[in-house]
Amino acid sequence: MASATIERIGEHEGRTVSVCGWLAGRRSSGKLHFLQVRDGTGTIQCVLSKADVPEETFTLADHLSQESSLEVTGVVRADARAPIGYELGVTDLHVVQRAAEYPITPKEHGVAFLLDHRHLWLRSNRQQAIMRVRAEVIRACREYLDGHGFLPFDAPILTPNACEGTTSLFAVPYFDETAYLTQSGQLYGEAGALAFGKVYVFGPTFRAEKSKTRRHLTEFWMIEPEMAFAGLDADMDLAEDFLVHVVRRVLERRAAELRVLERDTVPLARVEKPFPRITYAEALDLLRQKGFPVEWGADLGGDEETALSQSFDRPVMVHRYPVESKAFYMKADPADPRCALCVDVLAPEGYGEVIGGGQREDDAAVLEEKIRSHGLPLDAFGWYLDLRRYGSVPHAGFGMGIERCVTWLCGLHHVRETVPFPRMLERLRP
Ligand code: 4AD
Ligand code: MG
Repeated sequence: MASATIERIGEHEGRTVSVCGWLAGRRSSGKLHFLQVRDGTGTIQCVLSKADVPEETFTLADHLSQESSLEVTGVVRADARAPIGYELGVTDLHVVQRAAEYPITPKEHGVAFLLDHRHLWLRSNRQQAIMRVRAEVIRACREYLDGHGFLPFDAPILTPNACEGTTSLFAVPYFDETAYLTQSGQLYGEAGALAFGKVYVFGPTFRAEKSKTRRHLTEFWMIEPEMAFAGLDADMDLAEDFLVHVVRRVLERRAAELRVLERDTVPLARVEKPFPRITYAEALDLLRQKGFPVEWGADLGGDEETALSQSFDRPVMVHRYPVESKAFYMKADPADPRCALCVDVLAPEGYGEVIGGGQREDDAAVLEEKIRSHGLPLDAFGWYLDLRRYGSVPHAGFGMGIERCVTWLCGLHHVRETVPFPRMLERLRP
């Protein structure tokens, strides 16, 4: 007999199939047991009728505990009242394991409790919807970049130096020396771009963020395209087209999950080109009108980003931040050397930065001076300077944090639910 996934159960209408899963809920009324069975692809109601199965099969379900693992055999019946349109008329039931009393109950639990039980919390409807949106975001990112001539190019996790500032480095012993967990694959992505033209790095990145905010993880996944023979404008064009694709794909393919999350999709449907592009200086004017006392020079904080991103109905690209607020590799704007040729893309509805990137310094002498003035060890960057010595070209790229993007698309308050096992200042477990 065929085994079936709940997602595709409709293909077996009228036939007997077996479904393997876990008991999400149960309700009984004397002669009937209604078992809600979840298999990871969906949940289906399985109806056990005393009249249709042997006595011992029926009693098996009498005291079945939540999350018990099961193999249920039955006939697939169309049922207009069922959320998935089908139910299973059970003919046989095999209990694989009777679960111990399950700690997560339908009552409200605090976030700390749920995070402590993250390994189980992942089984809940909302968490499953978020993980599926996450998977779709990753698929859409790869699909876009693969389809636009970018070569997947893996960067190392263990690195000898900082990319995004020395204050957020995780050090690990590496035989007789110290290595650092990568903060960004960008520098290696640049080597890739100068070898292959267009590449993207995708992998986990690490930042020893000591502050607790709803946007920061200490371990997050970043996708980073990098292109040779490209400047800031091409970079912004790419970021815009890429993001439109990702949002559209999630709307097309994960509508059911967004419904589970009660996400209002109207603002997401407005994510169309062109995105407004404003300079940092223009952003400051806007912020001052809104009552933020911001001085030229500082990077924008979470509150400022929120205020800015609430001012537009689609993502806004803020470009040309002050050089001193940004990383050492940024190229200064020849038209105004106080500004870097960089861009942050802020998601609407107050979500703030989802993408950061820009054009890279391509002159060896200028870059060497920047490395020095940032107090970075020159010897660790010899290879990086080589990229400017042997066929240097204007090049640019960006990084998008997968979790920031998922937080926005799912309409969540905090980034912690967007990765299976979040790592934050006070959370290394489970
Ligand atoms: O703006 P960031 O720091 O830029 C870079 O790392 C560049 N090297 C990327 C590049 O140009 N290739 O980080 C890029 C993105 C942010 O916009 C944000 O989405 C995400 O990475 N991000 C974080 N996400 C979760 N937790 C954190 N602590 C994050 N820090 C950055
Ligand atoms: Mg940034």
